[in-house]
Amino acid sequence: MISRTAILVLLFSAIFSYGQKNSETEKKIDKLMSKMTIDEKIGQLNQLSGEGLSQNIVAQVKNGSVGSLLNEVDSKVIYELQKVATTQTRLRIPLIFARDVIHGFKTIFPIPLGQAASWNTSLVEDGARIAAIEASSVGIKWTFAPMIDVSRDPRWGRIAESFGEDSYLISKMGAASVRGYQGKNLADKTAIAACAKHFAGYGATESGKDYNTTWIPEVQLRDTYLPPFKAAVDAQVATFMCSFNDINGVPSSGNKHLNDDILRKEWKFNGVLVSDWASIEQMQTHGVAANLADAAKLAIDAKVDMDMMGFAYTKNLKDLIKNKSVKIKQIDAAVRNVLRLKFNLGLFDNPFAENSESTFYANNALSSAQKAATESVVLLKNNGLLPINKDHKTVAVMGPLANSPADQLGTWVMDGEPNHSITPLDAIHKNFGKNFTIQYEQGLAYSRDTNSVNFSKAIQLAQNSDVIVFFAGEEALLSGEARARADINLPGAQTKLLTELKKTGKPLVLVVMAGRPHTIQKEIEMADAVLYSFHPGTMGGPALANIIFGVENPSGKLPVTFPRLVGQVPIYYAHKMTGRPAKDIQLINEIPVGAPQFSLGFTSYHLDAGDSPLFPFGFGLSYTNFNYSPVKLSATTLTRENSITANCKVSNTGKMDGYEVVQLYVRDKVASLAQPVKRLIGFEKIFLKSGESKELSFDVSANQLSFHDSKNNLIVENGEFDLWISTNSNSGSPQMFILK
Ligand code: GLC
Repeated sequence: MISRTAILVLLFSAIFSYGQKNSETEKKIDKLMSKMTIDEKIGQLNQLSGEGLSQNIVAQVKNGSVGSLLNEVDSKVIYELQKVATTQTRLRIPLIFARDVIHGFKTIFPIPLGQAASWNTSLVEDGARIAAIEASSVGIKWTFAPMIDVSRDPRWGRIAESFGEDSYLISKMGAASVRGYQGKNLADKTAIAACAKHFAGYGATESGKDYNTTWIPEVQLRDTYLPPFKAAVDAQVATFMCSFNDINGVPSSGNKHLNDDILRKEWKFNGVLVSDWASIEQMQTHGVAANLADAAKLAIDAKVDMDMMGFAYTKNLKDLIKNKSVKIKQIDAAVRNVLRLKFNLGLFDNPFAENSESTFYANNALSSAQKAATESVVLLKNNGLLPINKDHKTVAVMGPLANSPADQLGTWVMDGEPNHSITPLDAIHKNFGKNFTIQYEQGLAYSRDTNSVNFSKAIQLAQNSDVIVFFAGEEALLSGEARARADINLPGAQTKLLTELKKTGKPLVLVVMAGRPHTIQKEIEMADAVLYSFHPGTMGGPALANIIFGVENPSGKLPVTFPRLVGQVPIYYAHKMTGRPAKDIQLINEIPVGAPQFSLGFTSYHLDAGDSPLFPFGFGLSYTNFNYSPVKLSATTLTRENSITANCKVSNTGKMDGYEVVQLYVRDKVASLAQPVKRLIGFEKIFLKSGESKELSFDVSANQLSFHDSKNNLIVENGEFDLWISTNSNSGSPQMFILK
C-alpha cells in the first residue's frame, strides 16, 4: 500500500520532471549561464544535421557553436561527439541528439494514420515507448514526434504522419505518444523528449500541396487546429516544432502571436520551440524577411529557441545584439529553455547512452507492433467472403504490395530495416500454407507500374484458384513529406488489372496498403471484401494474414473520411450544416435530358458525387455484429454545475469475439456561431465475446460543449444539443438534451 506521502512525492517529481521549472534546475541554469559568452549562448541555439565525425562537425562541437545534432544515429559517432562536447569544451555542455522517430526506430509500427485507426491509445503509447527504448539505446534523446496536425486533405502526403481529421481523437493519440516517448521521468535512460509538431495549422495547406499557404480564421484555429497541441502541453510535452506554412500570411517561424501570446503566455509552455528544417531562413523566400538577419530577428522575437539547419541564428544574432535590434534577454530566454531540456533529460549527469543493440526487434516489440498493425486494419466491405475458409482452398495472392517489405513500412522510416519486414506473402505461406494451396503472381512490379506484360499470367493463375487476394495501394515513397497527389486513385494499372481479374468471376478480396485514403469506389464495387491497411509496418504481414484467414477479427475504424472523388475534398464529418444542406439529390447521370434549368433543386452537393463520402469518419466493419440499444440519458437538462450520463448497451450478436469502438458525438443545434453537425467528444474501445453485452456510460458536462466565439473567447452557450452513441460518425439516432 503506497503511503499518501509517497504518492505526493511521486506526483511532485512527475510534475517537475518535464519542461516545468524546477528551482533546483533553475539555479543550475543561472550558474551555468553566468559563465557563458555570447558565442556559447548562440551555439546552444544552433542545430545541425549530422555528418559523422567530419572535421566541420567536430570543430563546431569543440568550439561550442552547436547545441544539438539531428540525423546522427551511429552510436559510436554520438559517443565521440558527446565526449568532445563534455570534455574538450570550456563549459562541457552536453549535446542533445535528435531523430525523426515517427512510428518506430527499428521495429516499425503502422504509420500514425494507421495507429489512429486502432482507436487504442495504450497501443499508441506502447509503440512510442518501444521506439524510445530502441532510439535512446544509441544516444537519441529527442524525437520530432508526435505529428498532431489536423489533416482533412488526402491529397496531402503528410496525412500519413497524422492521426487524421478529428481534433479530439488526435488529442488523445498525441498525448499517448508523448507519454510513451517521455516515459515517467524525462531523466530516465530510455526517455526521449517528444515534440508537438507542426505548430500550427500545417494540415490546412491549400490544395493539399505541401508547404503551401493556409488561411485559418483564429476561431477555427482555436476550435480545430490548436486543441491537440494544448493536449500535448497538458501531457507535459518537452518540445514544440514550428510549421513551414504561413497562417494568413505570417510564417509560423515568425509568428509571435502563435508562439508567444498563445504557446508561451496562454499555455505557459516553457519547453523548447525548434524551427523546422531551415524554416527560419525560408522566411526570406516567403517574402517576409529581406535577408537572413531579418529572418533571425523575426524568429527570436517570435520566441523560436532553436534554429534547425537555417544558420540564421549563428550568423546573425551576435550582430543583432550589437546593433540593439535584439536584446540579450531574448537570447538568454532561449538558452535557458535549451539548457532546461538538457538538465531535465539528465544529460549533464549521464551524457552517454548505454548502447545495447539487443533492444532492437525484441520479441515484445514485434508482438506489440503486430497487435498495433492488426488493430489498425479497417474492414470496409465484406459480403461474407472473409474470413477465407476451406471452401476456398486454392488462394491466388497477387498485387504490387503483397510482397514489398519496404513499402509496407510506410513513410518516415529513417532506421527501420525492410529485411526485418514480414510481408503478407511471407506470413500467408508460413502460417496458412499447410492448410491452403497458396499461389503467387505480383501482376505489377510496383504500385505505379503500367506494364500489363504479366496480366495474362495473373489471370491464368486466378482462373486456377478458388479466391483472389489482391494487395493494392501506393508505394511508401508516394506518401509523406512533399508527396502531394492531385489524383488519389490507385496509381498505375492496378485498377485495370483488378478489372481483368474480376472478369474471371473468382471471389475477390482487395487489401489496400497506403499512406492516405484513395478514391476506390470502382474497386469497392468490384471486390467481394475490402481491407484497408495504412502502411502497417514491420509486422504488417502476419497482421493481415491473420485477419484474412480469420485468426483475428478486424476492428479498425477510419480516422479520416474517404471521398468518392477527389473533387469533394475537403470533406470531413464535422462540417457545418450550411443554409441549404443536400436534399433530393439528383446525380448527373440521373438528370433527364432537357430538364428545365430550375428543376434540380438548390441545395449543397456535387452533381457527380452527391454530398456523402465513400466512407465516413469512424467507419469500420467486423466479422461479428454489434447491436446498440437506444441511448438513455440520466437527465435531459444539463447545467454548468452537474453532468449527465449517456448510457447505451452494446451487444455482440455475431459468432466471433471482437473489439468495437463505441463513439460519442454531440451537436450544438443553435449557437452564436454555426457549429459542426457533429463533434466527437468521447470513445471507448471494448472487447465483447460472441453473445456478450456491455453497458457503457459516458459523462457529459458543459465544458465539453465549449467553442470559441468571434472574439476568440472559449464559451459555452445554453440551448438544445443532440447526442449520439454509435459505431461511426454517420449512424445512430440522436437523443436531445438542453443546457441551461
Ligand atoms: C522535415 C519535417 C519535420 C522533420 C524535420 C527534421 O522537413 O518537416 O517534420 O522533423 O524536417 O527531419
